[in-house]
Amino acid sequence: MKSLITAAAVIVVGMAATAGTAAAQTSAQSGEASRGQRVFNTQCRACHTLEKDGASTAGPNLHGVFGRKAGTGGGYDSSDAMKKSGIVWDDTTMAEYNRDPKGKVPGTKMLFNGVKNAGQLADLVAYLKEATK
Ligand code: HEC
Repeated sequence: MKSLITAAAVIVVGMAATAGTAAAQTSAQSGEASRGQRVFNTQCRACHTLEKDGASTAGPNLHGVFGRKAGTGGGYDSSDAMKKSGIVWDDTTMAEYNRDPKGKVPGTKMLFNGVKNAGQLADLVAYLKEATK
C-alpha cells in the first residue's frame, strides 16, 4: 500500500512538472499551486485525499473544504476539538492550522508538526484551493 502511494505521488509530481508553466500563470500572487502540489504530496498525501468522494483514510477527505466548517466534511469522525473549534476554512485559517496544527486547534488528532516555511505554506494553500474544488 505504501509503495502504491509512493508510485502515485511520483506520477502526480511528474504531471505537475509539465503543467507547471500554466499553473504559474494562473495562480494567486501569494502562492504557486504547482509548487504547493509537491508540498502536499510529500507532507499531506499519506493521510488525505482531495478528489470528490475520495476516501477518508488517516484523515478526512478534503474535497470542498474551503468555506466549510471544520470537522463536518467527508463522513469522517473528527475530534471534538476540531468540531468545537468554530473554524471556517479560508486562506488564513488553512495556513494557520497547517503551520501549527496543535497551536491552532489544541486537542486536534492530526499528528503533524506543521509546515514552517512561509513560502511552502502559501504554495500549499494555493494548491489546496484548486485541488479541493
Ligand atoms: C499523520 C496523518 C496526517 C498528516 C500527515 C496530515 N494530516 Fe491533516 N488531518 C489528519 C487527521 C487525523 C485530521 C483530523 C483532525 C481532527 O479531527 O482533530 C486532519 C485534519 C485536517 C484538516 C481539517 C479538516 C476538517 O474540516 O476537519 C485539514 C484542513 C487538514 N488536515 C489538512 C492537512 C494538510 C494540508 C496536511 C499537510 C500539510 C495535513 N493535513 C497533514 C491527519 C493528517
